Amino acid sequence: MRSTREQTIQRIVQMPTREALLGLIRDEEYHDDIKRLAGETRDRIYGHRVYLRGLIEISSYCKNNCYYCGIRSANRNALRYRLTPEQILDCCRTGASLGFSTFVLQGGEDPWYTDRRLCEIIRSIKAEHPGCAVTLSLGERSRESYRLLYEAGADRYLLRHETATPGHYARLHPPELSLEHRMRCLAALKEIGFQTGAGFMVGSPCQTLEHLAADLIYLTELNPQMVGIGPFLPHHESPFADFASDPSMATEVQDPLSMTVLMVALARLLLPHALIPATTALATLSTEGREKALDAGANVIMPNLSPEDVRGAYLLYDNKASFGTEAAESLEKNRLALEKSGYIMDMSRGDYIG
Ligand code: 5AD
Repeated sequence: MRSTREQTIQRIVQMPTREALLGLIRDEEYHDDIKRLAGETRDRIYGHRVYLRGLIEISSYCKNNCYYCGIRSANRNALRYRLTPEQILDCCRTGASLGFSTFVLQGGEDPWYTDRRLCEIIRSIKAEHPGCAVTLSLGERSRESYRLLYEAGADRYLLRHETATPGHYARLHPPELSLEHRMRCLAALKEIGFQTGAGFMVGSPCQTLEHLAADLIYLTELNPQMVGIGPFLPHHESPFADFASDPSMATEVQDPLSMTVLMVALARLLLPHALIPATTALATLSTEGREKALDAGANVIMPNLSPEDVRGAYLLYDNKASFGTEAAESLEKNRLALEKSGYIMDMSRGDYIG
């Protein structure tokens, strides 16, 4: 017999409205059931497998000035580096020899990476590692650019929407960036054929629980193949450095760890087939973050495959975890940690199961 609580959750995730989701978020009585059901849903579709992606942070240059981000253009103290195509290929070689078959190229919006250069890099990776998947996470570009990157062989594209509420988006971003444009990029990526990832931060300045409910509703509308959800973590050189002590930035999110895990669980229930990472930000926030996210339905981890000498420079937030299970070299550590929690480390491409 399923409990009435369980039935209520199932009813809401099958016909979600913002109000009903907000009710689930507000009422802690439901949270354990939501997380358990999310874990079961992941198991039903993907089993106990957790897919690994090698994350290569290709550039810390960024033309944007997002208020939350450590590599924003106005941060004069950020260490800036840019990997050469050869360095990127070297990272992929290292990754391939470790067994990785997905490479995620992530970076700030760095104009040095023109379409020509990126397409060349993508083609070289694909030629050297036939059968691998290439994921890009390089921000907003034109539809034409996305199309060229797709034709060059890129398979997936991650572009978090950050928050689906226009007013909240405007508090986190400078005026030249808009939610409308971000959403148009996401729609274009999907249309072009990318496995597309959206997502948001939890506990960001001025975020309300209604904003989170709106983020979940947007996910159900876009229906992306991937969803990245992580806690907001302040960066000391950003306008949000004093976030914790400044009431004008207060968020309704009291406990970012448990709220992020709850959002992962609800994303899993709303989009049962999605690939959902246990994010580095969550692992940075708490040593239990990763396991909690996996138990609540996440099924991807993205260890860092960047050259070791730049790992300390790609800092979107303070104290970023990049050692231990966050480092691609620690594969055995990852395998053991996953097995200990009852998961199987899977190094295959791990495509979306449609
Ligand atoms: N805290 C947490 N996540 C952040 N990101 C950027 N800055 C921060 C921060 N201070 C996230 C954004 C972006 C992704 C690459 O990293 O959601 O999309």
